[in-house]
Amino acid sequence: MSGLVVRGLRRRFGGVAAVDGVDLDVPAGAVTALIGPNGAGKTTLFHCVTGLDAADAGTVTLAGRALTGPPHARARAGLAWTFQRIELFTGLTVAENAQVGAENRRGSRSWAKLVGLPGPWRVEGRAVDSVLERLGLAALADVPAGTLPTGTMRLVELARALAAEPVALLLDEPASGLDDHQIERLARVLRELAVGGLAILLVEHDMRFVRGVADFAHLMIAGRVEAAGRPDEVLAAPLAQEIYVGEV
Ligand SMILES: Nc1ncnc2c1ncn2[C@@H]1O[C@H](COP(=O)(O)OP(=O)(O)OP(=O)(O)O)[C@@H](O)[C@H]1O
Ligand SMILES: [Mg+2]
Repeated sequence: MSGLVVRGLRRRFGGVAAVDGVDLDVPAGAVTALIGPNGAGKTTLFHCVTGLDAADAGTVTLAGRALTGPPHARARAGLAWTFQRIELFTGLTVAENAQVGAENRRGSRSWAKLVGLPGPWRVEGRAVDSVLERLGLAALADVPAGTLPTGTMRLVELARALAAEPVALLLDEPASGLDDHQIERLARVLRELAVGGLAILLVEHDMRFVRGVADFAHLMIAGRVEAAGRPDEVLAAPLAQEIYVGEV
């Protein structure tokens, strides 16, 4: 499969099986939502896929190739992500944060820049500009990221991820803290990116957003995927109705 494929993933913390044998397909050209209650294991799974945490068992492949090693190796292989707890360089500007992402591009040669060779960073400059434009951040390019409201910081994290021109994108609660206008823009951008062929995995608690943007949903409870299918089907299941009382 051309997207991201997770098989048999396990991660235990002491007596807690945070991820308890998960299979997950995140196809290219679609938005796949991973939903479930607090503590279900969504972020742990996410960290095992990015290499920020080490799984006890299981495999992850991206475009048919094994995805292994530390986070920077996985980024070079075409994976990009944003965090549940925002992690930006707060002292750097919005454009500089996005530039950091561009330098993570597959095949990008930062050494060429260091030794003064003409090279790909000029292209990266354009990539940064177009990403900022796309996310409505162009006017904030020179503003220090740390001075921005939460929702806007989330969009800057997304800009950094997209500047790397990934083939798969993992987002942990990207709509949290965004205003209605920003959520609408985020939904539009994610749909465009999916149509453009990106494989997108979205961890999200906002079910209205999930319904609006996701092609598929997986419901995770206590480390296991208990239901999967179209968002409407998954959210109509009794298990989901219990968790999202009054929301779905
Ligand atoms: N570093 C850790 N050490 C010990 N236990 C952990 C660690 N990280 C997560 N856990 C436990 O693993 C389980 C899954 O947590 P995780 O953060 O993955 O859930 P989540 O689905 O992302 O929840 P939320 O929706 O609240 O973000 C929880 O029981 C949590 O307490
Ligand atoms: Mg989480």
